[in-house]
Amino acid sequence: MTAHSQAAVASWLEFWSADTAIYANARHKELHYAALARGIAEHAPSKIARVLDHGCGEALSAATLARGCGALFLFDASPYVRSKLVALFSDTDRIFVLHDGALCGIEDASLDLVVAASLIQYLSQAELRALLDLWRAKLKADGALLIADIPAPQSTAVADALSLLVFGLRSRFFVAALLSLARLYFSPYRRLRRDVGFSRYSAAEISALLGRHGFEARILPKNIGHDSRRLAVVAKPSGASKRQVQDFGDCAADGLALAVPSCKETR
Ligand SMILES: C[S@@+](CC[C@H](N)C(=O)[O-])C[C@H]1O[C@@H](n2cnc3c(N)ncnc32)[C@H](O)[C@@H]1O
Repeated sequence: MTAHSQAAVASWLEFWSADTAIYANARHKELHYAALARGIAEHAPSKIARVLDHGCGEALSAATLARGCGALFLFDASPYVRSKLVALFSDTDRIFVLHDGALCGIEDASLDLVVAASLIQYLSQAELRALLDLWRAKLKADGALLIADIPAPQSTAVADALSLLVFGLRSRFFVAALLSLARLYFSPYRRLRRDVGFSRYSAAEISALLGRHGFEARILPKNIGHDSRRLAVVAKPSGASKRQVQDFGDCAADGLALAVPSCKETR
């Protein structure tokens, strides 16, 4: 699928199932993913760490990140994005592109780090709560959840646009950034943000939510990514008993227990 036809797109998942206008050009996309991989790498505990990047997008710098981990699992809900990941990484050592069932089939208490960057704004509270329980179940007792690029309650589309322009100015893609904002304005993005929703959290709100799902949260001094107004948080499983994934209906019903190598999606 290529670019969207405006009227057809009714959900975020449909939005992510085609080429989007959120990146100004190839340079913007490369710089974005390179910075993200550097930021994530700071939280990967060791060269043998098992890391899940949930909602990874095209993950252009995954190969670099994977060199510092034991296994890097990439999961994106969009089949369109996953087909790109498979094309890019199916032959790359230590990278596993997961399909839905394989995500649920990751062994409990087996991950050192779960990353969700620029994801939770596109999820309803119910979806996020279900994912927090899933991540909590999959993380080792001493693992960590890194949630980055969380928009604050007071954030607006105009402020996001300005932040992109500043990034474009500093990184020599200002004109492309301007043009992409015009494309985005006429794309379904603006309408979806208004009608479907764009979740925002204060530091207190995200910390409290994480606390209710068995995590102890620590807000990081700075976000991962170009937008310094957004939040990033690292959350560690707290001492409370591990929550199960019963309310993550599909996973529980699948009853999958796949060995990791068979999680690898094939072309
Ligand atoms: C803004 S992109 C972020 C990509 C990358 N993490 C980054 O920071 O650049 C959001 C991605 O999340 C994916 N996504 C949305 N909802 C999801 C869900 N419930 N589970 C997994 N991926 C999801 C979309 O398909 C899209 O690729």
